[in-house]
Amino acid sequence: MTKALEDYLEEVHVLILQKGKARVRDVAHDLNVKMPSVVKALAELKKLGLVNQEPYGDIELTAKGRRIAASVLGRHTLLKAFLMKLNVPEEQADNDACLMEHILSATTLDRIRDFVEGGGVRAKEKSDKNKETK
Ligand code: FE2
Repeated sequence: MTKALEDYLEEVHVLILQKGKARVRDVAHDLNVKMPSVVKALAELKKLGLVNQEPYGDIELTAKGRRIAASVLGRHTLLKAFLMKLNVPEEQADNDACLMEHILSATTLDRIRDFVEGGGVRAKEKSDKNKETK
């Protein structure tokens, strides 16, 4: 899936979490794109079996769509926390997290998770320790 489609999926998930429903208008507003772009992306997500939408109805996520969206949002949240630990201002951290979430390897994300959860400097020792006990 492309970065753009992942972002649409993530935004639908965030709207459902925040407002209980996702409408084309709100997705367009939050992502700062035009409504026809949202409609086009939704058609592709529908083909991939990730969203459902009745004509003019709210956008819904399939179980698979929800799983992927939650994973993208999880990466976003982790990366934002990581950047803020580095004293990146919140808005910049949010924007950059939204770019990084699509491109980092699982290994790097794991190490960043260790770093964020381990309080920073002790993260490496912690991950080495995990290896020894395995
Ligand atoms: Fe994001």
